[in-house]
Amino acid sequence: MYFTTSVLLAALVSIAQAQTPKGFTPSVNTKLNVMFNTTSVATPGELLPKAATSSQPQLGLSSAQVSSANTFMFVMMDLDVPPQGTNTTRRTLLHAMVTDFKPTQQKLSNNTVLLASTQKGPAAYIAPGPPATDPVAHRYVQLLFQQPATLKVQASDFSDTSKRIGFDINAFMKTQGLSAPLAANFFTVDGKASGSASGTATGTATGTGGIAKNTLQPFTGGASRVEMTWLAGLVGGLAFMAA
Ligand SMILES: *[C@@H]1O[C@H](CO)[C@@H](O)[C@H](O)[C@H]1NC(C)=O
Ligand SMILES: *[C@@H]1O[C@H](CO)[C@@H](O)[C@H](O)[C@H]1NC(C)=O
Ligand SMILES: *[C@@H]1O[C@H](CO)[C@@H](O)[C@H](O)[C@H]1NC(C)=O
Repeated sequence: MYFTTSVLLAALVSIAQAQTPKGFTPSVNTKLNVMFNTTSVATPGELLPKAATSSQPQLGLSSAQVSSANTFMFVMMDLDVPPQGTNTTRRTLLHAMVTDFKPTQQKLSNNTVLLASTQKGPAAYIAPGPPATDPVAHRYVQLLFQQPATLKVQASDFSDTSKRIGFDINAFMKTQGLSAPLAANFFTVDGKASGSASGTATGTATGTGGIAKNTLQPFTGGASRVEMTWLAGLVGGLAFMAA
């Protein structure tokens, strides 16, 4: 009885701590601060208004987890793309993979260090846009990895929807030799025109100023080859996407 109770308690505690959705692997307990201009993800899985998520979020990590030597890679994926044909399994879609995040000098009042990257890829941010007809709110997972020097990714790997759909994070981690994510978070967005969700207003920063402006530049690194043609392909290829 005692045993059963503590097992149950342990299970409850681990559920309460998880920053990733139930059943998702890799499971992560450390919070990645995900901050949009007008809202931030306060509780993992929080429903956000679609409009609030239209551009790539600012990222922050607790200062205890940051060292100036760190380089991070950000990954965001939808877990709930509607199935195709007779298959009833929902699919994943890679919404962003952005390399070369570094800690900035900017620290929020709660000891969150803002991270910034001059890169915009290899997979530029695609805003959540679940189909209006989909009754299910999609789960969007954000993962922050230590970026290995050996990382081999390029924009052409993710240049159209067909290369982003069904993205398998576990296979990717294995191929690229990635360690478990350092931090994670997730939010949900539904297909309603005006999301009625309540977000938490992003607080003001202390010290060196407010939330850093996005200074997104075209992706130029992270791999030996530079490919600029992906953007055109991306814009064309994503027009009909429903994710
Ligand atoms: C159904 O879709 C899932 C996700 O894309 C895939 O893993 C699975 O193999 C598919 N099943 C069949 C029978 O095609
Ligand atoms: C720190 O503050 C920011 C801005 O208000 C907020 O988005 C974030 O969730 C906070 N982080 C923690 C760990 O409380
Ligand atoms: C958020 O801010 C960025 C840059 O600071 C800007 O490019 C973007 O349009 C803003 N997004 C929204 C939804 O206001």
